[in-house]
Amino acid sequence: MPGASAGSYQDPYDHPSGQRAPQLPAPTVPAHVAVVMDGNGRWANRRGLPRTAGHEAGEAALLDVVAGALEIGVSHLSAYAFSTENWKRSPEEVRFLMGFSRRVLRRQRDTLNAWGVRVVWIGRPQRLWGSVIRELQEAERLTASNTRMTLYMCVNYGGRAEIVDAVREIAEEARAGHLSGRGITEASLARRLNDPDMPDVDLFIRTSGEQRTSNFLLWQSAYAELVFVEELWPDVDRLVLWRAITDYARRDRRYGGAIDAPVTAG
Ligand code: FPP
Repeated sequence: MPGASAGSYQDPYDHPSGQRAPQLPAPTVPAHVAVVMDGNGRWANRRGLPRTAGHEAGEAALLDVVAGALEIGVSHLSAYAFSTENWKRSPEEVRFLMGFSRRVLRRQRDTLNAWGVRVVWIGRPQRLWGSVIRELQEAERLTASNTRMTLYMCVNYGGRAEIVDAVREIAEEARAGHLSGRGITEASLARRLNDPDMPDVDLFIRTSGEQRTSNFLLWQSAYAELVFVEELWPDVDRLVLWRAITDYARRDRRYGGAIDAPVTAG
């Protein structure tokens, strides 16, 4: 049944510890959280398992983070599932990740739908397996009318690729005489990104101790607050998300502005 109606959404299952989301003033809760789900391979290899076992274990982490995002009131969550650079991995791992993405979408779409989550795919269709695209589109169709949270599944996504595609579209429109140089603005470029309605990222989380943004949501993260956590992705759950959000809530976001407040001795 496509999109349960607002108000009739199911609440996600509780965290096994019984812990509840911290009570934060609503304006300090980030609207858009982006996560780089890093460390699956290392998690598996440290246990003497193949990298693919780490990806398998990452599915539950993703679902728990979605549950935690719903509980604390995040309205947009972006998950970096497969980047435009991930094609460099071994053919076996790429094949696994394609089949795995398909299976995760099929396994989780009814739960996401029941929770009121709208799934939106962003990424390039080129090279992506047709069966994965069909599964992404099916999840999008099923959940299209949900309004509680938007989950961007970023599959075959790259921030540079997204900007290049927008610029290419602008160049073609300019060549056809529909756009002048002066008509090219931040707003006109943003309108040509994968989802023009995607809000800017407020909080950007990367797991596994790595401190890079790795081409994820480059344009949208221009003023994002970055939080790097040590946990490998399969060890992440909503408690890790809530800790990152609590850290974010204390940050002073100035967007390039400044307040003159000399400290007086005293
Ligand atoms: C990065 O770990 C993780 C990935 C490339 C894939 C993660 C994807 C999921 C958990 C869910 C996918 C779901 C859908 C619906 C597409 P890594 O392999 O880079 O780990 P490493 O840094 O330890 O090598």
